[in-house]
Formats: sequence, structure tokens, C-alpha cells
Amino acid sequence: MSHDRFRIAGGARLKGEVVVTGAKNSVLKLMAASLLTEGQIRISNVPDIADVEIMSDLLTRLGCTVTRDGAELIIEVPAKPHHRADYELVRKMRASINVLGPLVARLGSAEVALPGGDAIGSRGIDFHIRGLQAMGATAHIEHGYVIAEAPNGLTGAAVTLDFPSVGATENIMTAAVLAKGVTTIDNAAREPDIVDLGEFLISMGAKIEGLGTPLITITGVAKLNPANHRVVTDRIIAGTWAFAAAITQGDITIHGARADHMEVMLDKLASAGAIITSTSDGIRVKMDHRPRAIDVATLPYPGFATDLLPFIITMNSIADGHSIVTENVFESRFMFVNELVRLGAQITIDGHHASIDGIPELSGAPVEATDIRAGAGLMLAALVAEGETTVNGAFHVDRGYPLFAEQLSALGAKVTRE
Ligand code: UD1
Repeated sequence: MSHDRFRIAGGARLKGEVVVTGAKNSVLKLMAASLLTEGQIRISNVPDIADVEIMSDLLTRLGCTVTRDGAELIIEVPAKPHHRADYELVRKMRASINVLGPLVARLGSAEVALPGGDAIGSRGIDFHIRGLQAMGATAHIEHGYVIAEAPNGLTGAAVTLDFPSVGATENIMTAAVLAKGVTTIDNAAREPDIVDLGEFLISMGAKIEGLGTPLITITGVAKLNPANHRVVTDRIIAGTWAFAAAITQGDITIHGARADHMEVMLDKLASAGAIITSTSDGIRVKMDHRPRAIDVATLPYPGFATDLLPFIITMNSIADGHSIVTENVFESRFMFVNELVRLGAQITIDGHHASIDGIPELSGAPVEATDIRAGAGLMLAALVAEGETTVNGAFHVDRGYPLFAEQLSALGAKVTRE
């Protein structure tokens, strides 16, 4: 892990164009799902981020050969992959848990280290385990590993999730595609990442209905075949640039942005005063005055994404007026707020509500990135802070944003990496 940090001068109004690549939260799941078949899988529009390297290492450890050719990833999956995902790799990245469903479904057994929590909160996997158990697997936790076994294969089942968890929906769906009979997932997550994964599975020969709705129905098949797939555009990165334009009173054309995946957040930005127009291959976001403060509550998709929380809080910190931002998905997202307060933001936290009094400008200081989105949020905050800000923990930003500092510079910001 590098100890790099970013040094950012305040005062830039970001103007220009950016291109958004494939979604981190989709590509990692597609890579894990490759384990469901033997042969060669090609995934295109792959972002150049650290998490893709970590997932490649994990797949390699499981017996696959992974090569990268520009934005394309070629994964060769062997006839019999290994079934154990070690802590050493899993601890680096939460999405490692996504190998659980495919390994149990294909091999009849899996041992996957528990990913543990991270700086955004405790992140259980009880729904994942209950889903596999409903399909006839035995699953228990031993010495920090989830050990799941289904020596005679999985059987379709009706699963209802307590909360529309993205990870649990993915693990249950990728297990059910090879189960005997029909599986239903009720209260399923509806994120575009889920739809992308489902479409990949369908192109491999899976039978899935109801993607993008709260009820997904999967009819198991005996075998899947290799397929090629293009990763859906990253709506969180597109959203980050949209907020970057609004926060800095800038004007950014975001190529590749899918407005249909960003409806709630674009409505919120419009309420804050941004002018949003569609372009031939994306959107343009322009703000020509100080943003107005807006109230927001995060919710599972299609609600306002929890991953965008740092950006809305940053915008409200320098907006005209008072706002309340409520976090309903990950309890510790507000760790980021302590860093923003170091930049002078006027925010008080009460349970899962942040109460924010907008001030015209923040004031530069050293701060610490606590996770991917918090790191990117602090970098945008630094642009509206008088003087200089250093953001420690650059590796967090590298996990999710390809060449973020370079892109900011191209839009007119003064950013260096040291
Ligand atoms: C994924 C994304 C993350 C995003 C989140 C919500 C990845 C690697 N991460 O996370 O960036 O912020 O979706 O869109 O793709 N929960 C349980 N038990 C479970 C599963 C989840 O209690 O078995 C709870 C979690 O603690 C959390 C909530 O459900 O409070 C949502 O979790 P989930 O949707 O599963 O998020 P992730 O898949 O971890």
C-alpha cells in the first residue's frame, strides 16, 4: 500500500470533458462470476484501478490465468478451480466475497475468508449465508472463514432478503444459476450492477427473469458457457463528476454517463441549481452560481446512492442554506465528516442524520481519506477550500478512480501527487 498523498490548491472551477469507464462495482462481480464456467471469458471497458488487480490476483490464486490487454481482460478458467480464497487477498477488498456463490455452485464447496468490516461500517454476510443454506448448502464460519458445502449440488429455493443487499443478491444469483430448479430472490437489489451481472450470466446460458425489479427468478441450468461482456458505465464516477461541476461552479461534459442510472441524483443537483443537459453520449453539468442546500436521504437503488454521500455533504457544506443529509445504508459513512470539519465545514451529526450549515468557502488543511468515496469527496472539497489541502491515503482513491488527479488537472485544478 503506497503512502502517497495529494496536494491540492483551492479555487479552481472545473471546466472541460471527462470520459467515464466501466463500473468498479460491476467488473469485480463479472470477474468473480467467470468462475461459473470453464474456458475463456473476455471482459471489455475494464477500468484501470487497483481493485481489478486484487480480483485478478484472487482469480489467479484460484487457478485462473488473467491477462490484461488495454481495457480488455481475458480470463482463462480451468476445469477445476481451487476452492479456497485466503484472508491475505480477501482482506484487501470486500468484493472478494463474490467468489463464494460461484465456487459453491460449480465445485460443491468453498472456503472464503470473511472480508471483515471497513471504514464505512460493519458489513454483514448473514444474508449471503442464509441464501446458500436455503438452497441446501451447509454453511458455517470457522477460524475466520465461511465454509460452504453442497456436495450433491444446490437446489432452487425461495429467498427473501431483509434488506435489498447488493452483495447478497449477487452471491445468491450466481449460485442459483447452476442449482436444480427455480430460485426466487424477493426484495432483491435493483442496481445497474445487478442487471449487468445478470445479463452476463444470461449470455453464458443462464435463465434469469426480473432483473432490475425486486423479484428475480432464476431457473437453474446444468452448465454455463464462456461469453464476452462489456462492463456498464460507472454511475458513481459519473455522479462524482456531476457533483464536481456543481461544487466548483464549473461546467463538465461527462462522456459515457447514463442519465437513466442517475435520475434521483440529477434531480437533486437540478434542485441545487445545476443546469443539466443530455449530450450525444452522456450529460453536461453546469453551475453558474453558489449551489442551494438540499436535503437528501440515501437509499438502495433507485434511491440516492450511499456512495455519493461524501459529494452531497461537500456540496451542502459550501451551499446557500441549511440541510439535513440522512444515511440509511452504511452507519459509519459519517467518519468522512470529521475530516470535512477540519476544512471548516459546519456539520453536526445526530445518529444517522448530518445537519449542515452552508458557508461560502472552506479552509485548506491536511486531511485523511478513510475510504474510496471519502477520498474523492475530500479532493473536491479541497477545490473549494481557501489555500492548500493535502489528502493523505491516495491509495483509497486509486481503488476506485482511474487517474483521478490527472483528470482533475485536465479540468483546471492544481493537483500534485507526492
Ligand atoms: C455494495 C458496494 C458498495 C455500495 C453498496 C450499496 C461493492 C464491493 N460494494 O456493497 O460500494 O455502497 O453496495 O449500494 O460492490 N447487510 C447485512 N447482511 C448481509 C449483507 C448486507 O446486514 O448479509 C447490510 C450491510 O451491513 C449494509 C446493507 O445491508 O448495511 C447494504 O449492504 P450491501 O448492499 O450488501 O452492500 P455491499 O454489497 O457490501
